[in-house]
Amino acid sequence: MHSLNFFCLILIILLGAGAADVPECTGTVQFNPPNRTYDVIWYPTNSSVAPTFPMNYECLYQINVPQGWSSYIELKFLPTTNTTANNSFVQVIDFNQRVEIIYYTDLDKFYFIAPGGRIKISTKDTSAQFQFSVQWFSEINPDRYDYANVTELDTQPYITNYLFKGNQVTAETRVSIITIPPSDSYLLETHLKALRSILIFDGPNVNSTCLGTALQLFNNNRQYVTSGRVVTVIPLQPISYWSDSQLMFQDFENTKDITEYRSVYCLGYCDPIVMDGSKTPSAFSTFSPSGYANDCLMSVSGTGNLDVYYGGKTDSKSNLIASYSEASNELMLPQMLRGVVRTYVLTGGIATVNITHNSDACLIMKKNQKGFITSPFYKTGLTRLFSHIDSIFIYSDGLYKYTFNIQDVDLSQNNSLRLSVIHNKSRVYDILYNATNLPSLNESVSAVGTEWDIKYSGDYDRINGGYFIKYDVVKVNSAPSYLSNFVATVVSVWFFLCMMF
Ligand SMILES: *[C@@H]1O[C@H](CO)[C@@H](O)[C@H](O)[C@H]1NC(C)=O
Ligand SMILES: *[C@@H]1O[C@H](CO)[C@@H](O)[C@H](O)[C@H]1NC(C)=O
Ligand SMILES: *[C@@H]1O[C@H](CO)[C@@H](O)[C@H](O)[C@H]1NC(C)=O
Ligand SMILES: *[C@@H]1O[C@H](CO)[C@@H](O)[C@H](O)[C@H]1NC(C)=O
Ligand SMILES: *[C@@H]1O[C@H](CO)[C@@H](O)[C@H](O)[C@H]1NC(C)=O
Ligand SMILES: *[C@@H]1O[C@H](CO)[C@@H](O)[C@H](O)[C@H]1NC(C)=O
Ligand SMILES: *[C@@H]1O[C@H](CO)[C@@H](O)[C@H](O)[C@H]1NC(C)=O
Ligand SMILES: *[C@@H]1O[C@H](CO)[C@@H](O)[C@H](O)[C@H]1NC(C)=O
Ligand SMILES: *[C@@H]1O[C@H](CO)[C@@H](O)[C@H](O)[C@H]1NC(C)=O
Ligand SMILES: *[C@@H]1O[C@H](CO)[C@@H](O)[C@H](O)[C@H]1NC(C)=O
Ligand SMILES: *[C@@H]1O[C@H](CO)[C@@H](O)[C@H](O)[C@H]1NC(C)=O
Repeated sequence: MHSLNFFCLILIILLGAGAADVPECTGTVQFNPPNRTYDVIWYPTNSSVAPTFPMNYECLYQINVPQGWSSYIELKFLPTTNTTANNSFVQVIDFNQRVEIIYYTDLDKFYFIAPGGRIKISTKDTSAQFQFSVQWFSEINPDRYDYANVTELDTQPYITNYLFKGNQVTAETRVSIITIPPSDSYLLETHLKALRSILIFDGPNVNSTCLGTALQLFNNNRQYVTSGRVVTVIPLQPISYWSDSQLMFQDFENTKDITEYRSVYCLGYCDPIVMDGSKTPSAFSTFSPSGYANDCLMSVSGTGNLDVYYGGKTDSKSNLIASYSEASNELMLPQMLRGVVRTYVLTGGIATVNITHNSDACLIMKKNQKGFITSPFYKTGLTRLFSHIDSIFIYSDGLYKYTFNIQDVDLSQNNSLRLSVIHNKSRVYDILYNATNLPSLNESVSAVGTEWDIKYSGDYDRINGGYFIKYDVVKVNSAPSYLSNFVATVVSVWFFLCMMF
């Protein structure tokens, strides 16, 4: 009895303390830059524990931002009971009237440019802790910009170096932009949300119309396209940590018929990628900085034709590397795909595509298979910096007959290509091609082993033409080798018997 009273008293004090900080909502609350721009404005208070707002509380907060300025908001919203229906939430409405709904956050960051944005709380069936701070910055133009041009003749998209600088890209026609998501799964959501601070403007400066943020673009599954030839991208202050996310730019002439278009990254196996290319082409691109990682295309199921480009989609198809349909699965897949950017374009159907970034799935042969191996920059015109050698080791889970033929190889300058098949640690096939020992193209060679090594090397920063080698790998029936072992055993037993008697 006594303790219950005491408990009630504490409860009343706590509720009372919380309520004291919660102002009644008497209309839209306006927020304007303070006299000392750098001062942080808190709502409702700057208490270290966010005040608890009652159920059925609604209010609208207007953050005003002068032309050429930006504002930065840190927001907390913690419903005290979690209702599965998500009736209580905060809406964040940006300068483009785009709404993001927050059901629960310890800390989320938002960025507004002129004329500003709004925050709307509606608590409905649960009380909730709520608090935000606003800070203004009087200059949104970054100190530094990277500049680039893209043309319809480019097979390789332009990728930003960094997002902490401004970027301005000029196209021959119009600019197509997609967001490359962060590659690390650790803190993925935080890194993605940091892309709210990257703004994409439809024109030559920050006074142009803002198409949206890099996060909105990422969630869009559509490319952003400028109305003119120029796009300007800027990070808003304070500079966020967005990991290795980048933006990819191309001339719209090459991507204009694509409707669905996004970039995909995942560690290991990706979630199956559903593409609807039934009416207009659907595409996705993957990116590996400097070509140090590969995709392994595992399966294509559904209808339509999937074209894979090293680089972006091009009308000339000069960088088209392979085409697949569902029928390819049995013999042609899995297939390793290299390059820096790979673009997968589905036409004439709806399909689910499985890829993985776990190269082993492609480098360990477990069944009869046909496919190809390329150097990382084949058909890209790029060179791998700081490296003069590229090695690929393919293994099989038993004895396989490796048949291969070189379709194309650049052995100019000091480039060389070494091909070896290894059986029980010895090189049963080993050849070095170079400018003085050129291979005959399209001529098949076979050797039986458990490993096939391909080593392409040249002078630093100079290997570029690359190679394309087709292969056909077939499991060897091990009976003949048992037989020869059996013969050897018989012979040696016979020898042994001879020596005995
Ligand atoms: C801000 O500056 C204006 C005009 O100089 C002044 O009237 C006002 O009191 C100042 N506000 C604060 C909070 O200092
Ligand atoms: C909150 O505001 C008060 C008065 O303006 C100030 O003294 C205090 O340092 C602030 N606390 C935090 C956590 O900003
Ligand atoms: C509500 O859900 C979030 C995450 O879903 C959790 O972190 C939080 O502790 C929950 N709050 C309550 C009061 O159950
Ligand atoms: C409620 O919100 C949580 C967290 O954002 C989300 O995981 C869940 O799917 C939502 N539930 C409904 C019914 O929308
Ligand atoms: C882009 O093209 C323009 C006009 O041809 C040229 O002046 C400029 O230097 C180019 N910029 C870059 C970064 O290549
Ligand atoms: C942007 O607009 C502002 C105000 O209209 C003007 O002062 C500024 O010079 C403009 N900036 C550019 C780069 O055109
Ligand atoms: C694609 O991947 C998913 C999940 O990794 C798997 O369940 C599915 O069987 C795969 N589909 C094909 C056709 O391999
Ligand atoms: C090949 O390498 C040698 C020795 O490093 C060098 O002297 C020569 O210039 C190189 N040749 C070409 C065509 O680069
Ligand atoms: C591999 O070679 C070693 C030594 O020559 C031999 O002892 C072994 O039996 C061989 N293994 C197979 C699987 O042929
Ligand atoms: C090609 O390789 C052979 C054998 O290693 C070597 O003697 C020759 O000098 C090489 N030629 C070039 C152009 O590197
Ligand atoms: C390559 O060889 C195959 C089989 O011998 C032949 O069908 C094909 O026409 C050849 N391709 C070229 C480009 O010579």
